[in-house]
Amino acid sequence: MKIIVTGGAGFIGGNFVHYMLEKYPDYRIICVDCLTYAGNLETLNSAMDNPNFCFHKVDITDREAVFSVFKEERPDIVVNFAAESHVDRSIENPDVFLKTNILGTQVMMDACRKYGIRRYHQVSTDEVYGDLPLDRPDLFFTETTPIHTSSPYSASKASADLLVQAYHKTFGLPVTISRCSNNYGPYHFPEKLIPLMIANALNNKPLPVYGKGENIRDWLYVEDHCRAIDLIIHKGTVGEIYNIGGHNEMKNIDIVKIICRELNKPESLITFVTDRKGHDMRYAIDPAKIRNELGWLPETKFADGIQKTIKWYLDNRPWWEHIINGEYRQYYERMYLNR
Ligand code: NAD
Ligand code: TYD
Repeated sequence: MKIIVTGGAGFIGGNFVHYMLEKYPDYRIICVDCLTYAGNLETLNSAMDNPNFCFHKVDITDREAVFSVFKEERPDIVVNFAAESHVDRSIENPDVFLKTNILGTQVMMDACRKYGIRRYHQVSTDEVYGDLPLDRPDLFFTETTPIHTSSPYSASKASADLLVQAYHKTFGLPVTISRCSNNYGPYHFPEKLIPLMIANALNNKPLPVYGKGENIRDWLYVEDHCRAIDLIIHKGTVGEIYNIGGHNEMKNIDIVKIICRELNKPESLITFVTDRKGHDMRYAIDPAKIRNELGWLPETKFADGIQKTIKWYLDNRPWWEHIINGEYRQYYERMYLNR
């Protein structure tokens, strides 16, 4: 089996590459990634020596380059993780989000049509559903919840998600789609809530909480997401959408306090800063479909997952220190200095 994994130098794609190489030693895993600021070859260090792994530095919006990878590799399955993924950056500049997330998805599917494919899997997000009110804890996103987006990021992901459905209906492309909640774990880029707070706390820097920190996200350990995608590409039904989430809703402020406690840092580091524009209040997934149809259940409890994650950041300081010493520092100063 040959699998193209786009965005494999990023957070979830990188975890997926390692997961697949370990679980299926006879599969060939082909990573396609153009190494944006969020892509990091250090994430793939241990895979590089594996003869069943190869890396193509290719932009998924570059039709010619993508087609030539398909011609050379003839993949059976494509899992499309590649995307611009940070909501705050999409508010600063939506352009690249529309290009990569929508047009890149189109190019990948056109290549699948031309060269033939057993499965195209689109890694979508729960953010396509918009948000839920804080005072209705009984409400959850199901696969039939209408799409209703808030940020340029979520709008671009929703556009791609709809395009994937259109390619299935119009051209018969054998697709599946997953819409997962917020992930956390190793190799998470330190601009996102959990790794940013861990890195800042370790450096005794302020912990910038947007608004009052009351917003709720439904956190899933990244390996559980990888296992869900593995199940969907092998056993999921073509044309279907699967929500992935672990019923682990937490307020942002509570997460930041847990990180302070685990690292033995004072809560006085917490600073409340100007809220994100259009900030979604609550995300909450109903994962009944994937549980009932594919038998998927999350395995890592948040209490264990956050400890493993913190330990990983303590044990792998060079990985994130290289990032925060580079281009990212300018972004950080622009976003947070006068906030
Ligand atoms: P990430 O930002 O960490 O990684 C994205 C990767 O894609 C990087 O390696 C980057 O270099 C690559 N990339 C970006 N543009 C590219 C292009 N034009 N061509 C080739 N490669 C390109 O993102 P992530 O958090 O790992 O998210 C992966 C996917 O999962 C995304 O599609 C995201 O929408 C989705 N998702 C993420 C979460 C989450 O909590 N992080 C939750 C649900 C869904
Ligand atoms: P983030 O990790 O950017 O994921 P998403 O916006 O895709 O859910 O943010 C998670 C939550 O944390 C979100 O409600 C915004 C909030 N947040 C902060 O309060 N401070 C920060 O510095 C960041 C990056 C996020």
